[in-house]
Amino acid sequence: MKIGIAADHGGFALKQVIHPFLTEAGHEVTDFGAYSENNKDDYPDFVVPLAKAVAGNEVERGIAICGSGVGAAIVANKVAGVRAALIHDHFSAHQGVEDDDMNLLCLGGRVTGNMAAEELILAFLKARFTGAERHLRRLQKVEQLEHKH
Ligand code: RB5
Repeated sequence: MKIGIAADHGGFALKQVIHPFLTEAGHEVTDFGAYSENNKDDYPDFVVPLAKAVAGNEVERGIAICGSGVGAAIVANKVAGVRAALIHDHFSAHQGVEDDDMNLLCLGGRVTGNMAAEELILAFLKARFTGAERHLRRLQKVEQLEHKH
């Protein structure tokens, strides 16, 4: 699968762990930065290019990491076509895809440990949107908001 990753300084260390993890699992990974740890960098500078790549289908899924994952989720959802969420638990990592067609996983590099992050990522990547009528109906309501606002 084509996967994009991005992180600010708060998520940099975790990004450096998940990049080889994804590559070794056979995924094609595009790293949208940061490419070095700089405490003065800003998460929108890395997460927005990733979010645009997800929305434009340049990558199938995205993983964005900041310190808490909160800022990454907030900014990623400003890009139309992105359905991002901050995830801490296994159930939401796959159910967010199955029901809500989540296409961008946000993690907190200062919150979630490396092994837990890898398990959340595996659950996210294995999951597929069910396409059930009720979920499509809900997504259409979300998409209408993107066009109106
Ligand atoms: C950066 O210090 C930190 O605020 C950022 O990584 C993130 O946690 C924002 O949500």
